[in-house]
Amino acid sequence: MDELRRGATVQLPHGVLAMTAIGAAPTLTAAHTDEHRLAAGYSEVRRGQFLAGRWCLRRAAAEVLPAERALPPLLVDHRGAPMLPAGLTGSVSHKDSHAVGMVAPLAVDGWRVGIDLERAAPPRGDVASRILTDTELTALSGLAPFERGRAVTLRFSIKEAIYKALDPMVQRYIGFREVALQWQDQQVMVAPLHLDGTWFTVEVWWTEFDGFWLSTARARRG
Ligand SMILES: CC(C)(COP(=O)(O)OP(=O)(O)OC[C@H]1O[C@@H](n2cnc3c(N)ncnc32)[C@H](O)[C@@H]1OP(=O)(O)O)[C@@H](O)C(=O)NCCC(=O)NCCS
Repeated sequence: MDELRRGATVQLPHGVLAMTAIGAAPTLTAAHTDEHRLAAGYSEVRRGQFLAGRWCLRRAAAEVLPAERALPPLLVDHRGAPMLPAGLTGSVSHKDSHAVGMVAPLAVDGWRVGIDLERAAPPRGDVASRILTDTELTALSGLAPFERGRAVTLRFSIKEAIYKALDPMVQRYIGFREVALQWQDQQVMVAPLHLDGTWFTVEVWWTEFDGFWLSTARARRG
């Protein structure tokens, strides 16, 4: 993960990751003209986030695509998800100072990826009962308040990554309590999910990096 601080990409279990500071010089200029045109309608803060996320996606996609294939503008679909060219799946997150983007080939097995970045700190309010299932709440009940808060934020982050992987297939809001995370030591498992009549397999990976929880997920039908 040290390479990330030098602007390099890293191969993670679910895809190629790039990270940048929001507002960093290259992210403000490197976007496609159509991405700039879209971002021109955003507030200054939102524009910085969007362009930083697109820089990460472009950087990661360049590692996955054959060199001769030019990247089109990475615009936004009708549900807010980033649009990747055929054959790729990708996801973006931004938190405070930083943005991350992850890209993977969309192979025949149909895995789609999601990513999320959160401060590795307790949430501002007590959101635990909105984010966690009753079993997940009980599992954290023995922790001291600060560690419990961090654990809640991590679970929030993981579920947001799962949501971003699933949404392109499910195309609806998925409640945080619809998804149950099962922990074995530091590994997270998600039981096969049955959503709107279809089964989904979901895999999760997470780490703590420079004060952030970084979570990734991939999901496929079946
Ligand atoms: C959409 C959502 C995931 C965004 O998360 P956030 O913490 O507010 O913001 P992040 O910075 O992490 O992510 C923002 C990025 O999410 C992506 N995104 C937005 N809508 C999306 C969707 N429907 N599907 C996939 N990705 C989406 C976009 O790339 C956006 O960045 P961009 O606009 O600059 O491209 C969140 O607001 C949400 O609505 N969650 C739904 C409920 C949920 O997470 N349930 C969990 C149980 S599965």
